[in-house]
Order: sequence, then C-alpha cells, then structure tokens
Amino acid sequence: MRKNIVAGNWKMNKTLQEGIALAKELNETLANEKPNCDVIICTPFIHLASVTPLVDAAKIGVGAENCADKESGAYTGEVSAAMVASTGAKYVILGHSERRAYYGETVAILEEKVKLALANGLTPIFCIGEVLEEREANKQNEVVAAQLASVFSLSAEDFSKIILAYEPVWAIGTGKTASAEQAQEIHAFIRSLVANKYGKEIADNTSILYGGSCKASNAKELFANPDVDGGLIGGAALKVADFKGIIDAFN
Ligand code: 13P
Repeated sequence: MRKNIVAGNWKMNKTLQEGIALAKELNETLANEKPNCDVIICTPFIHLASVTPLVDAAKIGVGAENCADKESGAYTGEVSAAMVASTGAKYVILGHSERRAYYGETVAILEEKVKLALANGLTPIFCIGEVLEEREANKQNEVVAAQLASVFSLSAEDFSKIILAYEPVWAIGTGKTASAEQAQEIHAFIRSLVANKYGKEIADNTSILYGGSCKASNAKELFANPDVDGGLIGGAALKVADFKGIIDAFN
C-alpha cells in the first residue's frame, strides 16, 4: 500500500546554523513520537552533509531541492545527483514550479534529472501543477498530463520508486489553498493517468502529495481525501511547531 508522507521544502531559507538548529529541534520533537507518516526534510544543498547525520534516519528522511541534469564535469555552480547521494540524502525534489518558472526547467531537462536521481539511488519527489490562468481556463488536467511526460518515459520499475507532488502554483505561498474537493479531483485524475500508463497496482502504490499553503489547520481535511497521500510543505516547514501540526494530521 502507498505511504503517507509529510515532506518539508525549506526553499532558500535558513543559514547553515539555523538549518542545523531546525533539524535538531525536529529530531528531538519526534524522538518520543510515532508519526503515522514518513517525514522528510528537503534542505538547501549546503545543509545536507550536516543535517543528515543529525537526524534519526528511521524517522526523518533528508533530501535536496534540486540536482543537476548532467552527471559531472564543467558545469560551474551545479550539484550532481551523485554528490547529493554522497551526503547521505535519500530524496530530491525535482520539477518544482519555482525551478520551472525562474530557471527554465523544461520537461526534457527534468526527464534527465529524474533519470540521474534514480541512477544514484535518490527518490525523486516530482512536482507538477498549473498556474492560475491555466486553472481559470480549466486547463489543469492537460497541464499536469504534459508535465508527467518527464516521468512517463521511465520503466515501470523506476516509476514505482518516485513520489509525485501536485502543487497548484496559485496556492504556493499565497495562503490560498486548493479546496479538499479540488485537490481530490485532480489527485484522482493524476492517479488515473498513472494507472493508464503503468497499471492499477503501480498507481495504487504511488504516493501523491499536495502542496500549496498547506498548514496544520487545513492538513487534516486535505489528507482525508482518498487520493491525497500527504503534503509537500513550504512555509510551514520552517517552524517545528507548524510542521509537527501537519504531521499530526495523520494521527
Ligand atoms: P507553501 O507551503 O509555502 O505554500 O509552499 C509550498 C511549496 O511550494 C512546497 O514545495
């Protein structure tokens, strides 16, 4: 059966010292708890090597927020999937709407990134989602279907290793959340696309997270939907009390 997951995306927040303090606090907070979901924190690259050994790997997975679309070589400023994996990190967010919008990441580039992540033993958390104008034009289904092309070239075995995250761009950092009905409707549609491509068993085992102004006050309602398997959390992942409140939505 698919896993319930609460994953934090720290984005470009926290100095190294602040990030270490946040990871330590989360680790201590969960020490005596048994969360009913997998907990993941995705941090800036520079935090990974410090944060990974600090947290109890049985309870908190660590991931990057991006990786390069090339294996290695003369790509100044880039960080490869192998480098991410060498820190002990297990996950990598790929295809986040901010990467697509501000750094020109295309379906083809993301396909390369996903393949390199998998080849290096990382689990991609692959993000898809429409912008406001697309939602207003009722084009969200075709947008997410087109974005899924980056992962629909994978073998069934590789696809079954990835986590999907639906993040409507109009809900990210805006305080505007998709309603529970809107989330369920498109998550079910995404799962149907996976079923058409890879079959019902793989579709049933794929975790599909919701992201976009998810917080403790709305997480329970969102996660109660049969096709919403947890959340990818931005702002509310930066404070342990807020993040813990979302993890507790599964209790
Ligand atoms: P917010 O939770 O801040 O809206 O961000 C969501 C997000 O983009 C997670 O990847």
